[in-house]
Amino acid sequence: MKKQIVFIGAGNMAEALIKGIINSRLASAKDITATDTNANRLSWIQEEYNIQTNSSNTDAIQKADIIILAIKPQMFPEVLEEIAPAINSQQLIISIAAGVTTAKIENIIGETSKVIRVMPNTPALVQKGVTAITRGFSATEKDELITNKIFGSVGMILNVKEDMMDIITATSGSGPAYIFYFMEAMIEAAEENGMSKIDALNVVTKTVCGAGKLVLLSHEQPKELRENVTSPGGTTQAALEILEKNNFKDLIRKAVSAATSRSKELAK
Ligand SMILES: NC(=O)c1ccc[n+]([C@@H]2O[C@H](COP(=O)([O-])OP(=O)(O)OC[C@H]3O[C@@H](n4cnc5c(N)ncnc54)[C@H](OP(=O)(O)O)[C@@H]3O)[C@@H](O)[C@H]2O)c1
Repeated sequence: MKKQIVFIGAGNMAEALIKGIINSRLASAKDITATDTNANRLSWIQEEYNIQTNSSNTDAIQKADIIILAIKPQMFPEVLEEIAPAINSQQLIISIAAGVTTAKIENIIGETSKVIRVMPNTPALVQKGVTAITRGFSATEKDELITNKIFGSVGMILNVKEDMMDIITATSGSGPAYIFYFMEAMIEAAEENGMSKIDALNVVTKTVCGAGKLVLLSHEQPKELRENVTSPGGTTQAALEILEKNNFKDLIRKAVSAATSRSKELAK
């Protein structure tokens, strides 16, 4: 890409992206800089990925073509106020924070700044992420294509209008946690019925991965695949009847709706 990329915040998501960008050869390590308030984290990430580091946000962004804001949402006002005077209108600003709208960012750094908001998820750590991408007021189609390339290096991308960000946050952003919770329950049930911890973990993990891959590769909908394995009067039907009787789908609907509302509240 021949662009200088600067990460503000060198935490989990920044690391996933740095790894993806380097592995996919989108940019070389020498063209990536990370900043962080945690000096230990900064020296660790420098050694691990051979990237540049800087303890000053304003210093680091001076040579940046792309600035990726990878700090927690509550840090945004403080960090944006800090870096605003050092930003120029040619730089592309990408925010990965949950619930921080492009308008909120533009209010602090100016409407002429090119802002893109994305919502990645943690499977990006293993290059299996899902990232929704939306453009702010002054960002161009070209800026969006560059963003697509960066986040495409850690999984699939979806270009959306900003009003879709709350439901996407509640689906793919928070989604891995729902799946982990479901896995916890399956593991506990298997253990309670005599399976060893390690066997239960392996069996449940491979079952979840296998089921996901089957949906991806079989060209059948989850509903059809479920019906295919549910013989009348069989074991699967016995289990599904319990899930149905206890309103499993309704529970998931309520959970997604609660996450969507929370995302809207955070954006206010
Ligand atoms: N993790 C997810 O599932 C996920 C999914 C989608 C989006 N996101 C978004 O991604 C963003 C980062 O999440 P994360 O999980 O990577 O967080 P994280 O691991 O806590 O990383 C944030 C890093 O930024 C550092 N930092 C704090 N203040 C700073 C400052 N003023 N200047 C530079 N660095 C600073 C933090 O240092 P300290 O630890 O010393 O504070 C920390 O190392 C969040 O906005 C989150 O909403 C996360």
